[in-house]
Amino acid sequence: MNRIVIVSNRVQVPAEGAAKAGGLAVALDGLMTQRGGLWFGWSGTVSDDVRRTVACKTLGAMQFATIDLTREEHERYYSGFSNATLWPLLHSMPDLMSFDRRNAVVYRQTNERMVAALLPLLRPTDLIWVHDYHLMAMPALLRARGVVAPIGFFLHVPFPAPDMLASVPEAGSLIKDLLSADLLGFQTANDMENFAAAADRLAGAARLSPSVLQWAGRRVRLGVFPVEIEAREFAATAACSWRSGPTERLRRSLAGQHLVLGIDRLDPTKGLIQRIAGFRRLLETRPDWRRRVTLLQIAAESRTDVTAYRDLRLALDAEAGAMNSEWGEPDWTPARVIARGGARVTLAGYMREARVGLVTPLRDGMNLVAKEYVAAQDPQDPGVLVLSTFAGAAGQLRSALLVNPHDPDELADAMDRALTMGLSERQERWRAAWAAIENATPALWGRNFLQALVRASFTAPRVAQDVPVIRTGLPVVAAAVPQERGAARLN
Ligand code: F6P
Repeated sequence: MNRIVIVSNRVQVPAEGAAKAGGLAVALDGLMTQRGGLWFGWSGTVSDDVRRTVACKTLGAMQFATIDLTREEHERYYSGFSNATLWPLLHSMPDLMSFDRRNAVVYRQTNERMVAALLPLLRPTDLIWVHDYHLMAMPALLRARGVVAPIGFFLHVPFPAPDMLASVPEAGSLIKDLLSADLLGFQTANDMENFAAAADRLAGAARLSPSVLQWAGRRVRLGVFPVEIEAREFAATAACSWRSGPTERLRRSLAGQHLVLGIDRLDPTKGLIQRIAGFRRLLETRPDWRRRVTLLQIAAESRTDVTAYRDLRLALDAEAGAMNSEWGEPDWTPARVIARGGARVTLAGYMREARVGLVTPLRDGMNLVAKEYVAAQDPQDPGVLVLSTFAGAAGQLRSALLVNPHDPDELADAMDRALTMGLSERQERWRAAWAAIENATPALWGRNFLQALVRASFTAPRVAQDVPVIRTGLPVVAAAVPQERGAARLN
């Protein structure tokens, strides 16, 4: 079996304290635990004095290799080009996008530095799998350094329409960089279609069939691979956690009220302001629900170096505060907003307690919280998922109450419907949602992608015959990893 080499911006090294939240982390951790291999990327540490070393740790069949980012790389590559330019653009929110040419330059340089650090660790028989928008230049940079191993790329976030993408001056070159891979994977068919259209429009790639493009004399395969969760394991965790202290305390604090729950990173794409507006509309238009329902919104702060994220925190506090002061009572607070995440186990218990799960992003690649909410339910007495049609998960969880998150009345109607829904309809909807996720796992997701990558690499002519020995001068440091896993991971 060929070794898999995963390359992602953030590496989920076990037992290194606060592993950062993310659907990517959930999927890759699940895959690597099962399959083993090398996982390479950023350590999560910013250091002024970047030691020119790769830190390596081994845990069972998994090997982790990480580098630190310099302050400039963190500012320009991560916060700047990745999260202030590409992230809003890929989520079709150009009004939040800012572009600075120097950030684009450092983005490419950081991709290059990562390639240089990775090269000495590669073997000719590896399957290389690059993840996400931080590393879009990497397939071309690997080829430029003579790597002939199969290269796959998976985009965890949505891919926008070509017109939208064209707002970033780098768009054409990033698409060409991606076209150096053998296989490009997307969360949904819509993302894949948008990519094919952009590849045609901005890079002149010809579409030979729905899943094959031709560019610069080579074939590149496209595919749809929706990211999955470990649904059975999550269901067991939720059932256990529901009886434990934190959920017990939450339940007591609700004193018989229904819980409406949102769990997200604090991110402009998540539709948090719109969600508060929808809940406010529920209380305005259905006064019966006052004092009988509480919204708990967990909005874990992230990317606080990016202005839009800091502004959002202020706006969310203001909106929730205004609603509470307007509709609250001395003994009832309509919305509880918490700007921190929580332990994964605790959140699973909260999900099982919630009568309504609100997953209403304005745009989202997949949104694994939607799948986790379904997995967490008691099959005998399940809650109802209210899901944005703009989340990738809506393609699979068709039995959820699907909503347009921009319309507060639609959100209020859906919450009212969820809160009043009879047991048999709740069970029926839950069973259909569970059937969509129960047998899928991150390991199967990874296997499907890797099998497709191997097939794709047979049909794509190589650009060079051998991997040259490239000396980067980066010493490799080895250390043991204590065996402990799991922090809360949000989309
Ligand atoms: O794909 C996007 C993603 O990697 C998600 O997995 C996760 O939601 C988020 O970004 C994590 O962001 P960051 O690494 O910037 O904290």
